[in-house]
Order: sequence, then structure tokens, then C-alpha cells
Amino acid sequence: MASAASSLPPYCLGQIEYGVVPWKKGRGYAKEALRLILPEAKTLMMPFVELTTDPDNVASQRVTESNRGVLYDEFRKPVQHGSTRGLHYRIDL
Ligand SMILES: CC(C)(COP(=O)(O)OP(=O)(O)OC[C@H]1O[C@@H](n2cnc3c(N)ncnc32)[C@H](O)[C@@H]1OP(=O)(O)O)[C@@H](O)C(=O)NCCC(=O)NCCS
Repeated sequence: MASAASSLPPYCLGQIEYGVVPWKKGRGYAKEALRLILPEAKTLMMPFVELTTDPDNVASQRVTESNRGVLYDEFRKPVQHGSTRGLHYRIDL
């Protein structure tokens, strides 16, 4: 897998995070929320945004991939994030 230098410091796992309350999951809300926030990020002159998911978080991966997210790196999270493995995604704006 190709690796790319991150624009973020190692303790910061991404510019965007999302979470949906359990009783509203599976309705497309996370996908739609990410779709709607991307133009906002673009107005901040950001060339791309980065997001991190866990390797076993298929729902989160689908949310990102449905919004043009490209997996570019698999890494080990810093100790304050548990030293577990993570996937870095990037979405060009
Ligand atoms: C990840 C999360 C935000 C997804 O929210 P959601 O509103 O349920 O997601 P959506 O309904 O928009 O579904 C997005 C995609 O994931 C798929 N999906 C949803 N739940 C899934 C599951 N448990 N397993 C596999 N795929 C799943 C959907 O089918 C959809 O895929 P599609 O585009 O191929 O149709 C939600 O599960 C959550 O809050 N999880 C806990 C917090 C978290 O993990 N946040 C991400 C941290 S990086």
C-alpha cells in the first residue's frame, strides 16, 4: 500500500470524525453528513481532508469510500489513541 506524508501531527487522527446515535444507524445519515461537510471544508481552502478508521470498522470505511475516500496508509496509532492499527483515508476536495 502506498504511503503518503500526512498534513496532520501524529496525535491528530483526522480533520473529520463522525458518529451516529445507535438508534439512528443504518439510515444513510453518516454518508449524507460527510457529503454535506466536504464543500464546507473546501471553502477553507483545504486541498484534501484526512480521516482515520479502524480496520474492523466496515461501516465507517463505507461512509468514507462512498464520499470518494481513498485508503492511502495503514499505520499504528500513537499511544494516546491506544497503539492499535488504523487506516488513513484522504478525500481530495
Ligand atoms: C460509522 C457510523 C458513523 C456509520 O453511521 P451510519 O449512519 O449508520 O452509516 P450509513 O447509514 O451512512 O451507512 C454507510 C455505509 O455503511 C454500511 N454499513 C452501515 N452499518 C454497517 C455495519 N454494521 N456493517 C457493515 N456495513 C455497514 C451501509 O450499508 C452503508 O454502505 P453503502 O454505502 O454500501 O450502502 C456509525 O456506525 C457510528 O456512529 N459508529 C460509531 C462511531 C464510529 O465508529 N465513528 C467513526 C470513527 S472513524
